[in-house]
Amino acid sequence: MALDMKGKDIISIHDLSREAIDQILATTEILKMKQKLGELYHPLKGKTMGMIFQKSSTRTRVSFEVGMWQLGGYALFLSANDLQLKRGETIADTARNLSRYLDGVMIRTYSHQDLVDYAEYSTIPVINGLTDLLHPCQVLSDIFTIKEKKQVLEGLKLAYIGDGNNMAHSLMFGTAKTGMHITICSPSGFEPDPEITRLSRLDAAKTGATITIEDDPFQAVQKADIIYTDVWTSMGMEDEQEQRMQSFSRYQVNGALLEKAKEDALVMHCLPAHRGEEITDEVVDGPRSIVFDQAENRLHLQKAIMALVI
Ligand code: CP
Ligand code: NVA
Repeated sequence: MALDMKGKDIISIHDLSREAIDQILATTEILKMKQKLGELYHPLKGKTMGMIFQKSSTRTRVSFEVGMWQLGGYALFLSANDLQLKRGETIADTARNLSRYLDGVMIRTYSHQDLVDYAEYSTIPVINGLTDLLHPCQVLSDIFTIKEKKQVLEGLKLAYIGDGNNMAHSLMFGTAKTGMHITICSPSGFEPDPEITRLSRLDAAKTGATITIEDDPFQAVQKADIIYTDVWTSMGMEDEQEQRMQSFSRYQVNGALLEKAKEDALVMHCLPAHRGEEITDEVVDGPRSIVFDQAENRLHLQKAIMALVI
């Protein structure tokens, strides 16, 4: 029987059961097919979703907004700078108010705790559109993309080269929950958060997945089925950019690194790419790159989330 996910928040993959993840993936497949066939499907007719953005976005904003429209509903873009939140209205009062107008809310914030606090006072489902700590919609969508390309998830190895940031954290949860092995390869001082590592290892113990932390990129990509990278300087960390360019210089996904991986290894990036920094043009535009398929699947996966929880 289908799992009832109505009203559920999507804040961290760690909170999702394997059953819920499978249901999101299966729904994504159906919605993607309907969209490709040009079949109209409006389960959210008359529903509205607010999208609060404290940070910039290309993919998340457009894919959620278009996705909501395709499902028959309406999405409102709410810049955090223009809300009374910016002038001191509390997170709790904002959540209480918006819950009276909307049927769901998607939030992109700096502080993960702000999102957790918002969800506590919201009576409508809250979807995490990225925080400094996590980016679950991106990774659920990436898992869908990996399954599309490789047919299976269990037993695959993903090597993540770069910053132990929000992407690394959600990838650790996503792979652990679905039985994929992950190696996080970061320079010293930029390893993933120890608490996220601990929690993802608990998830991994239940599925047979492994979580390895490594600092040598050439070692990390060996036997990898997927090589994943992200920007060296995430949003909000621009002051550290110069120092990060030096610390990460050995952690570039380039042709020499790909030579050490399996011949059929695929390259992924959540985008935006900083070409010439964490990834070279030859790799991001090369035959193994699936970055734009990933970007497209954000639309289908987030439609599944909205259709299930709103
Ligand atoms: N990958 C991703 O979330 O992209 P945006 O920052 O453009 O939304
Ligand atoms: N780690 C990046 C991801 C962008 C989608 C950031 O937070 O800026």
